[in-house]
Amino acid sequence: MTTAYKITEHQYDMIVVGAGGAGLRATLGLAAKGLRTACLTKVFPTRSHTVAAQGGISAALGNMGEDDWRYHFFDTVKGSDWLGDQDAIEYMCREAIPAIIELEHYGVPFSRTDEGKIYQRPFGGMTTRYGEGPPAQRTCAAADRTGHAILHTLYQQSLKHDAQFFIEYFALDLIMDSEGACRGVLALDMSDGTLHLFRAHGTVLATGGYGRAYFSATSAHTCTGDGGGMALRAGLPLQDMEFVQFHPTGIYGAGCLITEGVRGEGGILRNSSGERFMERYAPSVKDLAPRDMVSRSMTIEIREGRGVGPKKDHIHLDLTHLDPAIIHEKLPGIAETAKIFAGVDVTRQPIPVLPTVHYNMGGLQTNYHGEVVTLKDGDPNTVVPGLYSIGEAACVSVHGANRLGSNSLLDLVVFGRAVANRCGETIKPGASHKSLPASACDKSLANLDMLRHANGGTPTAVIRDNMQHIMQNDAAVFRTGETLQQGVAKITEAFRSFEDVKVSDRSLVWNSDLIETMELQNLLGQAVATMVSAENRKESRGAHAREDFGSRDDVNWMKHTLCWVDEQGGTKIDYRPVHLSVLSSDVNVIPPKERKY
Ligand code: FUM
Repeated sequence: MTTAYKITEHQYDMIVVGAGGAGLRATLGLAAKGLRTACLTKVFPTRSHTVAAQGGISAALGNMGEDDWRYHFFDTVKGSDWLGDQDAIEYMCREAIPAIIELEHYGVPFSRTDEGKIYQRPFGGMTTRYGEGPPAQRTCAAADRTGHAILHTLYQQSLKHDAQFFIEYFALDLIMDSEGACRGVLALDMSDGTLHLFRAHGTVLATGGYGRAYFSATSAHTCTGDGGGMALRAGLPLQDMEFVQFHPTGIYGAGCLITEGVRGEGGILRNSSGERFMERYAPSVKDLAPRDMVSRSMTIEIREGRGVGPKKDHIHLDLTHLDPAIIHEKLPGIAETAKIFAGVDVTRQPIPVLPTVHYNMGGLQTNYHGEVVTLKDGDPNTVVPGLYSIGEAACVSVHGANRLGSNSLLDLVVFGRAVANRCGETIKPGASHKSLPASACDKSLANLDMLRHANGGTPTAVIRDNMQHIMQNDAAVFRTGETLQQGVAKITEAFRSFEDVKVSDRSLVWNSDLIETMELQNLLGQAVATMVSAENRKESRGAHAREDFGSRDDVNWMKHTLCWVDEQGGTKIDYRPVHLSVLSSDVNVIPPKERKY
């Protein structure tokens, strides 16, 4: 190392990395339990990507028709294509109801029915009577700005509970001890370049997904999976990384999200002859089929020459038959987005859309308390002491191979709350911290110093662009053995090309060149894990659609993938069984069957 770095030390009971919906719900819950809590975030809390969530948050409140949390449980298991852990899904769907009522009491300005109840809209894959009844109206909405409403409310509540925020701090690495326990994080204050060691009894990674490993994503540019990157560097595996969700309706070209709530309110997907083609693929639920199916159906329409536009390379989302008053009241945000990014007036013209990367089902392996677990001495459920993860950074796994729309905001608040409850029971406020060796931060500092002075021949943006195109082309909606093998070779080469990265700015004050380089380092590990896990899984399940292995294979593949990535981009794969058990006698395990809608 060429530079001596001075480190300021802070001691807390708990630290939370990330201030999106999951991070803030955990932060306020931990602070409310009397634990001294700090939240570190690389962006101002209300700029976190949760702010972009549109359509809503699911809970079987039954405000607008028949519903039951057990129907929600069934739909989520089926939506996951039987890769979700049924104990965790039971927990989430049951806890959804108190979690939403709590949000309402915190002050989230949900839209209302005429009776003053929380407004709920239909969303893909949400049904009643265990799939036999009509679509459920289960997705609680604040117009089409639900994430915005929730995020602002949670931030206000966190401030009320006296949590401490460290804003525009970039977490560099987990500080792990020799026994494999997490003892905190090292972080960089981006505004002045100072370094900070945050020591804590518990560290919660709520750092979101890694959508920016792809070229076209609905995710913000900040979605670089920093928690997953830190976990890989700490020698932990990531789970089910092959399952990447493509949202059916990203705006063609721009990639911005057009909420599934549009189809929930009656919007229709049409091909070049104006046909409502989803009637052929999912006769009962049509446009409200789950996202993996709709994205595949759209891709087939385009491949078979029925796409729209001069290149026949996208699809139309038609709202022109909807009452403009509904659009004004329930979908004002997407009307504005469609005008700005696609130049269309949604009351008169269809929106050009294309499946776009939206969500990572994979992430840090956790149990339903939010504790990070790993495979140790043959036990895949071994808790990593002091480390927790929630939200899109985590893989609980409640979404399995395919997440249902509006189960993400739910996952954030339910597991943000769960981790706070768990730590409230297991961590004693104000307990003293064990000593750390003087060398605890050395490896992380060496990495920082190496990147800061990196003087290779390839700018960060060039490596990133290469990675994004490889992922877009070779880990797409449909995959084949051949493209995945090529993809593994190309993404491993891209990973290794990082050794030649060039950083031009050597300072530490607002060095966006350096921050983007560290984000790229985090993305590259996860891109490799995604491609390798996808090549390895020889079946089709949920969002992982292989043309060479077209069916689901429960005998050989009803198991979670664990993938480790080392510093040279080498990988190791192992597995964890799917939890086919439930927590209570209120529900029965849903045995696997063919997934039809
Ligand atoms: O379409 C949407 O509004 C997205 C929701 C989600 O990803 O849960």
